[in-house]
Amino acid sequence: MDRIRLVGGNELRGEIPISGAKNAALPLMIASLLSAEPLVLNNVPRLADVKQLERILENHGVDIAVHGRRRGEDEGVGQRMTFHAADIVDTTAPYDLVSKMRASFWVIGPLLARCHEARVSLPGGCAIGTRPVDLFLYGLKALGAEIDIDDGYVVAKAPKGGLVGTTISFPKVSVGATHTILMAATLARGTTVLENAAQEPEITNVAECLVAMGAKISGIGTRTLTIEGVEKLHGATVDVIPDRIETGTFAMAAAMTGGDVLLKGARPEHLQSALDILAQTGVELTPEAGGLRVRRNGNGIRPVDVETEPFPGFPTDLQAQFMALMTMSNGVSQIRETIFENRYMHVAELARFGADIAVNGQVATITGKPQLRGAQVMATDLRASVSLVIAGLAARGETVVNRIYHLDRGFERLEDKLSRCGAEIERVAG
Ligand code: UD1
Repeated sequence: MDRIRLVGGNELRGEIPISGAKNAALPLMIASLLSAEPLVLNNVPRLADVKQLERILENHGVDIAVHGRRRGEDEGVGQRMTFHAADIVDTTAPYDLVSKMRASFWVIGPLLARCHEARVSLPGGCAIGTRPVDLFLYGLKALGAEIDIDDGYVVAKAPKGGLVGTTISFPKVSVGATHTILMAATLARGTTVLENAAQEPEITNVAECLVAMGAKISGIGTRTLTIEGVEKLHGATVDVIPDRIETGTFAMAAAMTGGDVLLKGARPEHLQSALDILAQTGVELTPEAGGLRVRRNGNGIRPVDVETEPFPGFPTDLQAQFMALMTMSNGVSQIRETIFENRYMHVAELARFGADIAVNGQVATITGKPQLRGAQVMATDLRASVSLVIAGLAARGETVVNRIYHLDRGFERLEDKLSRCGAEIERVAG
């Protein structure tokens, strides 16, 4: 297995192009199942999770093409890809494909809406809590689907004539359940109202894609989405939004090492709450025409308390990275993780750098230290892994991050982007 070896202590200086958002690209790709016409996506990131979803979609009969570069494009631009689901030949998403990535379960929405049946394996993905699918099943049943669990599979059937629109009030905010039921409702008969829907920017990206495909959706960007079902959707061309989690991660890396970095293409409004918190720690953040500039020059890192929340709150996907930053603050801070139980696996690994962190239930208390020391550490889940990389960038001496396949699931050219800004970082083949 590959490892990342890095030597900490260098400030980050330069430009980092922000890639297309993984968490938008995946549901956008899944949306292609809703139409017999091609969906073209611009700025798809080159990631292991994208490749994995390609395999799943191909198994359903989707033709996938990667387009070549275009004049004037630089290397920071993601792939242009076409997804063409002219004929869905198989409505089963098998265990060996779905178990590798939780988001692949979301195909159940479009398959059920368009083909009136789906058999999808219960999901896998990062081991950050139990992550049930009850909200998905609640939504699909409300649309009239009959659901059975058989041999580890969810077997879903639509009523004769297809799904039927209704009002669904989610008892808890779920990104995945919102994507899935939103997609399913586009082809349902009548009107669906989704209350307590997630309003992450990736949901908006998908909703606008669906509208470009002919869906009728109002309330985009709010907690209530109203979908008037249509008979069919057509092709469209849509841009994947820049990755706000990658943006926040590099902002925290620069905050930790000091320096001056321009995050090219970043959309600050997509992570305003995280930027507000970062500003309180003493980082200078300046939106510029080309992106977001992050600077920290000499002054210490102030401790700030944080609680993770659904958008527009502080994202759980930046919790581990923020904790890494707080290990070097000049005081005591607390983090409360409210979205996932068991999302503190990075704590034991950060302790190897000499960090002082105590966990009590949902709350982690971090006592900052002036200096971390490099260490041998193990990547556990996707966002936790990158917190170890940014801790290593600021630590004295050498750090080796083992089991980095998690990083390749969600971060495009991480070592390359960091080393161009002065970090001493390389991938060592396993
Ligand atoms: C998505 C993101 C992930 C992010 C998370 C929260 C993608 C591909 N992944 O994951 O990076 O960390 O949102 O912002 O976009 N829950 C239930 N029942 C359900 C569904 C969810 O109880 O049926 C719970 C989960 O266990 C969790 C909470 O709801 O505690 C939020 O999960 P959810 O928003 O669904 O996360 P994902 O869509 O899996």
